[in-house]
Amino acid sequence: MRLDEIVPWGRTLNEYRAMFALSEQDLAGALLGCGDGPASANAELTRQGGRMISIDPLYQFTPEQIRARIDATAATVLAQTEQGREHYCWDTIPDSAALGRLRLGAMALFLDDYPAGQAAGRYRVAALPDLPFRENAFDLALCSHLLFLYSELLSFATHLAAVRAMLRVAPEARIFPLLDLSNQRSPHLAPLCATLDAEGYQVEIVPVEYEFQRGANQMLRLSRPPAPIINGSVPAKP
Ligand SMILES: C[S@@+](CC[C@H](N)C(=O)[O-])C[C@H]1O[C@@H](n2cnc3c(N)ncnc32)[C@H](O)[C@@H]1O
Repeated sequence: MRLDEIVPWGRTLNEYRAMFALSEQDLAGALLGCGDGPASANAELTRQGGRMISIDPLYQFTPEQIRARIDATAATVLAQTEQGREHYCWDTIPDSAALGRLRLGAMALFLDDYPAGQAAGRYRVAALPDLPFRENAFDLALCSHLLFLYSELLSFATHLAAVRAMLRVAPEARIFPLLDLSNQRSPHLAPLCATLDAEGYQVEIVPVEYEFQRGANQMLRLSRPPAPIINGSVPAKP
């Protein structure tokens, strides 16, 4: 990953709560954020006593490098959003100035937390589908604005491998949004759901109380099949 190819853009914990319909019980568990980038969810949740680890190849860069890249790109992203304003819902976020405050505020919280979070192992350099964690290390794995959104860049095989990896390290995974960058439902969604459903995973498309990219108001919730019960007891792991 080259820093000059990255456009850092991060969302808040409130946005994560809404995108993933996170309950207080969900937030009390061990969370993994895949592709969290400069989002402030980890910083905010940690401050509230929660447990979250974020993975992203972005974390190979220093705070100064990421800050400089945000400074170099934020105005362009906001101008592009303004140009395509009909593709967004402006009810919760009223205009691009408010969007700028929200995103830059989230990224500032992330940058403040980043050195301490790196030292604590909360920001880890890794990229889907390679997750450097043991099976069941987390209660819930999240992925916001990476899978499905970048369907043109990431193949179906990469999506499937990424989701399998998330469901190896956590019994449940949630992904938002289900649209690609052209606001169309990702072509990978239906085959991914069919494949996992056929393997016994629980697959649900869930409406959520969040919509900024127009039409992006659903998340995918996936759960691993329960372990088989043999003679009234769950078999021990080998
Ligand atoms: C659009 S940003 C979303 C950031 C954050 N999740 C949010 O919603 O605010 C996408 C992030 O995915 C990261 N990324 C790209 N490829 C990845 C991969 N294979 N595994 C994990 N993260 C990746 C990028 O570095 C970037 O930070």
